[in-house]
Formats: sequence, structure tokens, C-alpha cells
Amino acid sequence: MAKTTSGFDFVIHKRRPGTDLVRWIYDEVRSAILEGRLKRGMRLPSTRELARRYGIARGTIVTAFRHLYAEGYLEAKVGAGTYVRTFLPEEFLHAKRTARASTEARKFTPALSKYAQRLAPAPAGRGQPAHAFRAAEPALDVFPASLWAQIASRRLRAATRKLLADVDPRGYRPLREAVTNYLGTARGVRCTNEQVIIVAGIQQALEITARLLIDPGAPVWLEDPCFFGVAAMFKALAAKIIPVPLDKNGLDVAEGQRRCDRARLVYLAPAHQFPLGMTMSLERRLALLNWARRTGALIFEDDYDSEYRYSGRPIPALQGLDQSDSVIFAGSFSKVLFPSLRLGYLVAPTRLIDKFAAARYTMDRHSAVIDQAILCDFITEGHFGRHIRRMRELYANRLEVLRESVRRTLGELLTIPETEAGVNTVGWLRKGLSAEAVARAAAERNVEVIPIGQFVLQKRRPEGLLLGFGAVDDRELLRGVKDLAEIIENCGKSRHRALPMSSR
Ligand SMILES: Cc1ncc(COP(=O)(O)O)c(C=O)c1O
Repeated sequence: MAKTTSGFDFVIHKRRPGTDLVRWIYDEVRSAILEGRLKRGMRLPSTRELARRYGIARGTIVTAFRHLYAEGYLEAKVGAGTYVRTFLPEEFLHAKRTARASTEARKFTPALSKYAQRLAPAPAGRGQPAHAFRAAEPALDVFPASLWAQIASRRLRAATRKLLADVDPRGYRPLREAVTNYLGTARGVRCTNEQVIIVAGIQQALEITARLLIDPGAPVWLEDPCFFGVAAMFKALAAKIIPVPLDKNGLDVAEGQRRCDRARLVYLAPAHQFPLGMTMSLERRLALLNWARRTGALIFEDDYDSEYRYSGRPIPALQGLDQSDSVIFAGSFSKVLFPSLRLGYLVAPTRLIDKFAAARYTMDRHSAVIDQAILCDFITEGHFGRHIRRMRELYANRLEVLRESVRRTLGELLTIPETEAGVNTVGWLRKGLSAEAVARAAAERNVEVIPIGQFVLQKRRPEGLLLGFGAVDDRELLRGVKDLAEIIENCGKSRHRALPMSSR
């Protein structure tokens, strides 16, 4: 293992009255090693430096260190200093650490808020290689990373005060202007720069919206089914969730009104519903806007992946039809660029701009300005438009590969409906097959599918799977379809075996 130095100061806790000085230093260093605060191979500050910092004789430190050398915790390198031993007995370290952690944990069980108790556990990140049919992820392998790096290094080399100081909580002004232009042209959004707020993705846009509009118990319409992140967030805030069903025209507005006419907020993805994929009809859009105007409700428009539309006319945003300042429009760079960027935007109704800015300021001030500046150059120099066009073609081809191979290999066992947009689609399973059982068996063969039932709030749906087609290449898609075909056939056979003879 390479020798390292943390570069940080090594902190020694206060000496308990009556403890011998050598014992104090010995115990502090030893427990820092056992608890993993001082890592194996790490260099310690010199005895001279420690003596000066803690106002004790250097000889005291040298004696304490001598004990630690003798017991195998530290080693000295001539002319290079004192290091934590590279070869410390692993089980010894482990035993000490867990014992201490559990006693500490018992001593300090925090009294959690109701919000904390309602929070769903966070999933692990998705840094590991993508397999067929990873959903909600773009083609990261073809992202122009070296171009991004060139822009980043140019920006960093010329980092001026403007980039290093903090900014308006609504974000870096030139980026907000670039986003305003993009949304006006490509998405039919009607807004001024003042309304555009750069956020850390749609999830944050929604969190800010909910904090501004939702007290515990306040009714919110959610599309049923909808993205887990949305439902989990509203549950944590103790909103009263009103699941509103969907049909081929999108959210059933009349049914929403029947269920709860006085909802304060509606969440929906009208351009490309998640996970079912339909586009909301114009008639329904107008009905929703009329209802919002009459009741004073606000509408959150999630526009997470509508840049990728493969057939039909581009559908302008619902926000562009709004006459009563009732729509909060939100979009993201997670699907068009890369998800770890954590940048997106919201367009606030004019009467709420100040409240949105205040909420963002209180939450975390603003997004990193350097990242915003890099993104701004990427857009204004024309790379963004080119990237979207290139990706649209790539995803359209991948979708075709998926549809064609599913049709050939799976026939009626799995049906993919017409898919107009995005990087995911649904596959409906033949009657009698369980999506949960297929997904479990698939995971064992590195095939990533999510049962549609996991997004359902209330209304049962036929058994289906969410299939992403953007994240992996044609070869992996074909491998996935082949393996999925075997998995579905096996699930079908085992179901048949499990049925009593009378019902076959
Ligand atoms: C439908 C939908 N809305 C919102 C989000 C969150 O997007 P962001 O990464 O911008 O927070 C996702 C993420 O996958 C999504 O699928």
C-alpha cells in the first residue's frame, strides 16, 4: 500500500484530569487507529509538531510513540517520519471498531422527527456497469466527456471572481438566459429569465415546490402510477396523496375532481408519462388548466425526458397554454447529459419567484457555479443542440432494435406498445405471468427490469415491466432480450407446474 499523509491536522481530545500524559497520547493515537480515523499507511505529524501544538514536552510524545512501535501500531521510516503500520491485524481492528460503534450507537439514539421516520431508505448509486434494460439512464458511454473536460479546464483556468463568489439563489445568470432561450424555442415555454431557477434536478424542484405549498395533510393529486421519487417525497412530507388514474389521454382530470376538488397541487408528466409513456391530450390539458384557474391549485409539470421524441409532432409544454400563472415547469439535464451533474431548472409562476428563490437560499444557497458555467458554455456554443440530435438518432435506433428483437424472440409473451419519446418503454406480459417473479429471476442474470406494479399507488394494472433502452448498446439489448425470453418461458413453465390439474 502506498504511504499517504492526510494533509489534515490530527486532533487529540482533551485530557481527562488525572490521566498520565504519556498514557493520554498513547490512548488517543491507538484509538484513532482502531476506529479507522488514522488509516493504515498514513503519516503522523512529527513529534516536534505535536509537542508544539499541544504544549507538552517532545519527550512525552516520543515515549508514547515508542510503546506504539513496540505493539505494532506504528512504524518509523528513517528520514521520512512516523506511519501507521500497513499490516495491522484485520480482525483486531474490526472487532474493536464494531464493539465501540454499537455501544456508542446505544448511548446516543437520536430522537428522530416525524419527517425522518417517514423517509424511505435511499437506494445505492448506480455507478456499476449498466445492463439491459437499465431504466432512466442515458447512454453515458457516448457522452462527449473530453469536450466537457476542455470546457471545464478553460473555465477553471480563467476562473474570475464572478465564478468563485456566490450568486443569486436562482443561479448563474448567463445559464438562466441560455435555458430561457432553449425552453422558448424547443419546448414552447413562455417565460422571462426572472422566472428561471437553476436547481439540482427535478427532484429538488419538486421538493422546493412541496415545501412552499404543502403542509401535513394538504391534498396533492399524483398520477397513478408515478415515479417512486415523487411519491416518497410527498409521503415524507405527510401530504394527503390523492392517486388519480390515467387512460390513453393522460391524467383523468374529471376523476381527480371527483376524488378531491380542493387539491392544492397536481404532479404530472404530460409530455411523456412515467412509467406508462402516454402523452396528455390537448383537451385534458385545457381541462386541467381550467380546473386550476377555478380552484387556485398549482400544477407541477415534470418534463424529464421529452427532448427525445421519435414520432408525431413535438408537443409543446402545458406551461405554454397557461393563462393564470398556475404552472411550475421543471426539466433536467440528468437524461440529456448525465445524472451525476445534478443540474436542472424550474420555471416559477411570476407571483412566486421570490418565494422559490427564498426556499432555495434556505435549503442550500445555489448549485455549484463552476458547473453551471461549464453547462452554459456547452449550451451556448451549440454542443447541447448537437448532442440532443445525435442522441435522438441513437435512441431511436436502440428502440427499434429492442422492439424488433422482442417481437421476433418473445412474440406474444411480451408486448411493447407504440413508444413516442424518452429512454424507457413498457413491456406488457402475457396474462398469467408475474412481473415480480420475472424481475427477480432476471436480476440473477444481470437483466434489469422493474415491475410496473412498483410504481402503482392504488389502481391495479396488468403485469408489465419497465424497460430502458438508452443506457446500453445494441449488442447488450439483444443479449438482454435473449435472456429475458428464457426467463419468461421458465417463469411460465413453473407457474404451469404450480397450478392444480383442475385449473390447467
Ligand atoms: C419521471 C422522473 N421525474 C423526475 C426524475 C428526477 O430527475 P432529476 O435527476 O432531475 O432529479 C426522474 C429521474 O429518473 C424521473 O424518472
